[in-house]
Amino acid sequence: MWADGAALERAARILRDGGIVAFPTETVYGLGADAENDAAVRRVFEIKGRPLGHPVIVHLAAAAQVPNWALMPPEGLLLAKRFWPGPLTLVLPRTSRASDLVTGGQDTVAVRVPSHPLAHDILERAGIGVIAPSANRFGRPSATRARHVLADLGDAVDLVIDGGATTVGLESTIVDLAHGEPAILRPGAVTREHLEAALGARLRERGATEVRVSGSLPSHYAPAARVELFEDGAAARARLAALEARGTRTMLLDAASGSEGPARELYDKLRAADQAGVEVIVAILPPEEGLGAALRDRLQRAAAPRRHEGRNSRVE
Ligand code: TXA
Ligand code: MG
Repeated sequence: MWADGAALERAARILRDGGIVAFPTETVYGLGADAENDAAVRRVFEIKGRPLGHPVIVHLAAAAQVPNWALMPPEGLLLAKRFWPGPLTLVLPRTSRASDLVTGGQDTVAVRVPSHPLAHDILERAGIGVIAPSANRFGRPSATRARHVLADLGDAVDLVIDGGATTVGLESTIVDLAHGEPAILRPGAVTREHLEAALGARLRERGATEVRVSGSLPSHYAPAARVELFEDGAAARARLAALEARGTRTMLLDAASGSEGPARELYDKLRAADQAGVEVIVAILPPEEGLGAALRDRLQRAAAPRRHEGRNSRVE
């Protein structure tokens, strides 16, 4: 439904009562439930088809609520001050309020204060911590429009709040502050450059080995089409022409600029490709800097062979 004040109040009430609400954040749509209601959290995993044991992010209306859930180190305060509300998630040592279901049984919890006005309004009205994994079926591209949520999850959700297309389009940056030097576990719109400038320090390379990040499964975002990756635009266009000459249904995904447009459109395009029966997506990668790092990461996941399927993808 379109979001007026009454709809937002209803969303908050459903969440407090243990229901499931899909709502937009500035990154992607989230599938929300009361973080302290184990039955509601379980239902979110079921609806998504996500295996238990994958930790989820607790969304809060304000950084002031973090101490209920986690221990905030000095770097966390710094990053929160600089980037919240916004597309940044912090992994922190947890308090006992964060259940094993939320943390995947780990001693850390992921927290985020989103900036989307509808998300913020719902969180503030609800007054609780809300877990919200991306509102897609497990293994599908994340949902960046309400219709993506409806296509994937339809009637299983108690309410879908429609806020139009999300502005960032890629999931939040995840920074681990719980295992020594800060590290990026998932690149996003808050870039390495932004983080290093704020912290005044170089960041450790991603160390996702000791923590479970479902986004770090190679095939996590894979569409049905095969995705071929190119560093070079001319080579990509030549490949596209060759495929088309052969009658292959293709799609060009030009992310070379590494800018906000391609990021915002990425998941909609992957979904559109599936719907149109595209067989091969030819993608041009941006340089590994700024937002380009996040785009490369998601495109590389989209191109990764799926287990049990043996698809081949390539970088040229
Ligand atoms: O932009 C986003 O972050 C969206 C919006 C809805 O907020 N949410 C999202 O949630 O992408 P999800 O569940 O699809 O991805 C959350 C990622 C997962 O890869 C999960 O493994 C990781 O965060 N994560 C959650 N808690 C963690 C923890 N304690 N330690 C390490 N990784 C964690
Ligand atoms: Mg997800």
